Amino acid sequence: MNNSPIQSIIPANYQPKNMAAAFEQFTQAYPTYAETEAIDQLRATDYSRLDEQKHIYLDYTGGGLYAESQIQQHMTMLSQNVFGNPHSNNPTSVAMTNLVEGARKYVLEYFNASPDEYIAIFTPNASGALKLVGESYPFQADGRFLLAFDNHNSVNGIREFARTKGATVDYVPLTMPNLRIDQPELDKLLTQADPAHGNLFAYPAQSNFSGVQHPLELIDRARDKGWDVLVDCAAFAPTNRLDIGRWLPDYATFSFYKMFGFPTGIGCLLARKSALQKLNRPWFAGGTITLASTQGQWHHLAQGEAGFEDGTVDYLNIPGVKTGLQHLEAIDIDTIHERVTCLSGWLLQNLYGLRHQNGKPLVRVYGPTDLEMRGGTVTVNFYDPSGNLLDYRRVEELANEQNISIRTGCFCNPGANEIAEALTEEDIAPGFEEGKRIGLPVFMSLLEHSTGKSAGAVRISVGLASNFADVYQFLNFAQGFLDKSSEKVGHVTFEIENCRVIRDGS
Ligand SMILES: Cc1ncc(COP(=O)(O)O)c(C=O)c1O
Repeated sequence: MNNSPIQSIIPANYQPKNMAAAFEQFTQAYPTYAETEAIDQLRATDYSRLDEQKHIYLDYTGGGLYAESQIQQHMTMLSQNVFGNPHSNNPTSVAMTNLVEGARKYVLEYFNASPDEYIAIFTPNASGALKLVGESYPFQADGRFLLAFDNHNSVNGIREFARTKGATVDYVPLTMPNLRIDQPELDKLLTQADPAHGNLFAYPAQSNFSGVQHPLELIDRARDKGWDVLVDCAAFAPTNRLDIGRWLPDYATFSFYKMFGFPTGIGCLLARKSALQKLNRPWFAGGTITLASTQGQWHHLAQGEAGFEDGTVDYLNIPGVKTGLQHLEAIDIDTIHERVTCLSGWLLQNLYGLRHQNGKPLVRVYGPTDLEMRGGTVTVNFYDPSGNLLDYRRVEELANEQNISIRTGCFCNPGANEIAEALTEEDIAPGFEEGKRIGLPVFMSLLEHSTGKSAGAVRISVGLASNFADVYQFLNFAQGFLDKSSEKVGHVTFEIENCRVIRDGS
């Protein structure tokens, strides 16, 4: 892996005449890319629809892409069997139970989580897994919930459970400009745990905003000081080896579609058995109890994962999780990691090097510009030659015209965005006070006019099926903004409300 600072490798505004010339430069700078060649063959077979339909897919942090072979295997399984609702004794149910439990076992094996120590709970997505912990964790007065600024909203949301139960909520700051957890500050906050009360520390193994990888060593460090540790692995697991047996988090959360595209609707909470025992579920549902009485109004929660899987699990899709994990194993997650590292290095160094004729940079990169402890997520904002911010929604709109799929906004990670843009509470206050009335577009323009800052950015992310051509074509697209004024780039034509885009469906 090439960890050198990237800005020195390529001269500013390097514009290779054609893709072949650029590819040669790339392979010289990243010779290990050649070792990932098997993925080019897969791209031509299992992911051929990308090139057939001329898609440039660069939103792997939003969602992974499934291989055609995964779908075929899944369809064959469905069409050649008769399956009933699992966990009964009839033959169709037993057949289904075996596949669901086989997938559960496979998840544990894949992450090297010993079944003696860990339980895998299927959830609708990573958010569902996070909510299970949040609603059940024994927060109380004198207890604490500590979390990184760099968290997805589905982790931020846990603070509402903590606050309701009277626990103290603290955020660990990030360092600028690299957006890493401020470790001296973290150490100070970690000393504040009173071991007599519940103390939960939550952070992402990889940021969905900046791609920063926060050290897994923090798990031990926090636990030594009396904390239970929740690591959100949703953005980390798709392109990194994760050895749960080595790091031993109390709780780890995943969404499988981010790892291998299909199935959607299934996530997982990996919980250490000792940590699972601390959780008190606030309700019960079909499937989560051994016995319940309506007259007596009592219930007994089932042991293990059964107590946490509400109602009927997505049983026809769960076997697809095993197929997806096997697909990753066949490619080898380290090969995927290497490929993503090479591509994101090239993307970063070239984007970062783009300069208008007056020498001003085209983009501002949020987070590290080298490859040390970072994944394949690159988040930037574009500026015109006079330093005016280009509306990220307009950038997305223009990318759409070229069939380039990128993500814009704050990606449900407002904390990283606030720190990256140095947004202060005063900057944000008008949006909060008026929020319901003014909506996001007006808030964005207010913010930009009053502070010159942005409530969002452009995220480009590479993953399993990415190739050099994807990155090359995005760089060509980005070069199109050089030396254009913001007026020339124009204004966005679609509406966006909250974090969701509103389009006329006609
Ligand atoms: C780091 C991280 N955590 C949690 C989530 C939530 O995942 P889901 O929407 O699948 O529940 C995401 C989704 O983007 C994420 O990137």
